Formats: sequence, C-alpha cells, structure tokens
Amino acid sequence: MKYAFFDAKSYDRPSFEKYGSEAGIDFRFYETKLTPDTVELARGAEGVCVFVNDTVNAEVIDRLSEMDVRAVALRCAGYNNVDVRHAFGKVHVVHVPAYSPYAVAEHAMAMLLTSIRRIHKAYIRTKDFNFSLNGLTGFDLHGKTVGVIGTGKIGRVFVDICRGFGMRVIAYDKFPAADSGIDYVSLDELFAQSDIISLHCPLTDETFHTVRAETIAKMKKGVVIVNTSRGALIDADALLEGIKERKIGAACLDVYEEEADVFFEDFSGHIMADDVLARLITMPNVLVTSHQAFLTEEALNNIAETTVQNILDLSRDGMCRNELCYRCGKTESCRSAGRVGKCF
Ligand code: NAI
Repeated sequence: MKYAFFDAKSYDRPSFEKYGSEAGIDFRFYETKLTPDTVELARGAEGVCVFVNDTVNAEVIDRLSEMDVRAVALRCAGYNNVDVRHAFGKVHVVHVPAYSPYAVAEHAMAMLLTSIRRIHKAYIRTKDFNFSLNGLTGFDLHGKTVGVIGTGKIGRVFVDICRGFGMRVIAYDKFPAADSGIDYVSLDELFAQSDIISLHCPLTDETFHTVRAETIAKMKKGVVIVNTSRGALIDADALLEGIKERKIGAACLDVYEEEADVFFEDFSGHIMADDVLARLITMPNVLVTSHQAFLTEEALNNIAETTVQNILDLSRDGMCRNELCYRCGKTESCRSAGRVGKCF
C-alpha cells in the first residue's frame, strides 16, 4: 500500500517508517505541502497523509478522486483545512482525535514558568557569563488565580498541573464537565479574576478573537495570557496594544493568527514580513514557540500508530472509527455520533 506523505519533516519520519513498515504501508515522504500544484505527486498512491497546513479543498479532492486516490489521512486532530462536505462520496477522510493531552498541557506550563521566571532571559545571560539578576524578578504561581478557557482533554490536564502548583483554578467552558470539581464561572468573571488566562478551547465562530480589545479591558492589569490552542483565539493587534499599554504582563504564544505563512519553516536570514509577529517577538515579556506543544516522542508515536491503524481499517472493510464524514450533515465523526456501517 502506498501513501503520499506531504509536508514531511525530519521528526515525522522515524515513527511513520516504523509503524508503516510493520503494517506494510510504504509512505512516500514529500517535503512540499499538498496543494492543487503538488497533488500530482499522489498519482499511483492509495491515499495521502497530510498535516495542518496542507490544502485539501474541492479542487484537490476532485484531482485525488480522478487519480483514484481514495483516502486522506490527517495526522492531526483539527480538520479546518479539509472540505469535508466536498469529500463525501469521493475520498474518505480520517484523523487522529487525540494523541497526548499531556504534551500540550505541559508545554503550556513550561511556557508560563519560563515567562514569569524570566528563564529565557537568564539562559541567554549566563551563556554570556553575565550572572547579574537585575530585571529577572518573577512572581510565585502558588496562590495565584488561573482562568482556564476550555476544559476538555488538554484543559483538564492543565487544571491538574495548576492545582499541583497550589493555584486557585477557575474555568469557563460552553459545556462544563459534570462532577469535575472545577469551579466554573462566566467568561466575564474569569477575565476579571484571573492572574493568568490559558486558552484550551477549539477555534470556532464563537471563540474567534476571544481575546480582543473589549475583553482585554475586562482583565486584571498584569494578566499573563497563554495560548497553546489556535492563533485566531487572540486578536494579535489587540494583544500587541495591550502589551504596549502595560495592561498585559506577559504573553506565551505557541500559536499565532497568521502562523500558516511562517511556522514550521526556517526564516532566519530573511526579512520578516509580518510586522505584528516581528514586534511581538521583540517584546521581553512575549514568548513565542512555533506550534511546538504537541511535539513529544509519545505524541509522535501515538499519531503514527493511530494514523496507520486508520489506514488499515479503511483498507480492510472501510470501517474506521476516526472517519470524518458529512453524511449526517455535521462536521463530526459519524462514529462519535453513534453511526455504524460504512460512510460510503
Ligand atoms: P477537546 O475537544 O477535548 O476540548 C475542547 C473543550 O473546549 C471542550 O471541553 C469544549 O466543550 C470546549 N469548548 C467548545 N466550545 C467552547 C466555547 N465556545 N467556549 C469555551 N469552551 C468551549 O479538545 P482538546 O484535545 O483539549 O484540544 C483543545 C485545543 O488544543 C484544540 O482545539 C486545538 O486547537 C489545540 N491543540 C493544540 C496543539 C498544539 O500543538 N499547540 C495540539 C493539539 C491541540
């Protein structure tokens, strides 16, 4: 079985080569992203394996279908880059709903600690034999209030980590978890009370720009904002203004609104075209990582194992519990909606 693997990075290959060869799947690795211009590379393959910034629009789907390429295996959870409605009846789309909530939640805490204890500054100083402590004063997390927006798989792990630090945890979720012992409050209360706000909800029309000028105005002076979820949860221009006005004490960003143009690539030696990102990065109290929160050995292995299992399920009898399909009129997995049988 051949699968064309787009947007391949060096860290993808070991796990996919291991699980692929055990299952008899020959992944053909291409560094280029899947687009209408590169889709021809999939000719002769049973399916394509894609990531968050590959384009799986109607044109690509039609070309895949014409070439008799019958599957799109997403090696991630999100599928906003796939026209799932158009894919119905043409190509099967499968994804990896969960791989390691710990990877993302631990990265969120790593960024928070780095930022508030100025570890990123201290690291550079001591590399230069500068052992001065001036300007490195941080604050204790113990006793501080953290507001968690979105208490799903990742948010819940983050809540547990914060409790371990002796923090007071409050949360907002559109669908609060029953019997979780979590102290749910309204969004406005969360903005007003939190010393730290960490975003763990999905990007939807409702959550778009959750952090914007109007909501920043409701926050405490000096609030620390952590975003390991999706960039467009924050209006980056408003964030920058909030930092310049000293309203926002620090920002830890693993995701960025316009990240698709820059993240995952090496732009050192180039002129950074995105002025907002460039300005944010110059701020001493802004920490940016490049959508790295998922990147642990455990997560990579789980992603490869589940993707390979999805491909085997599709090839065996066409029944894959991680298939995304539009038959029920909703962008959700038919299996999670309780549907049984083949999608088409
Ligand atoms: P999940 O689906 O388990 O949890 C999401 C939670 O958000 C649910 O409890 C849901 O009820 C809540 N929610 C939905 N709509 C909401 C709204 N309007 N307001 C507040 N809460 C709302 O998802 P999981 O696995 O915890 O992932 C969370 C997010 O983390 C994902 O959507 C994804 O964007 C991001 N992520 C980032 C990664 C990275 O490498 N930076 C890797 C994996 C996920």
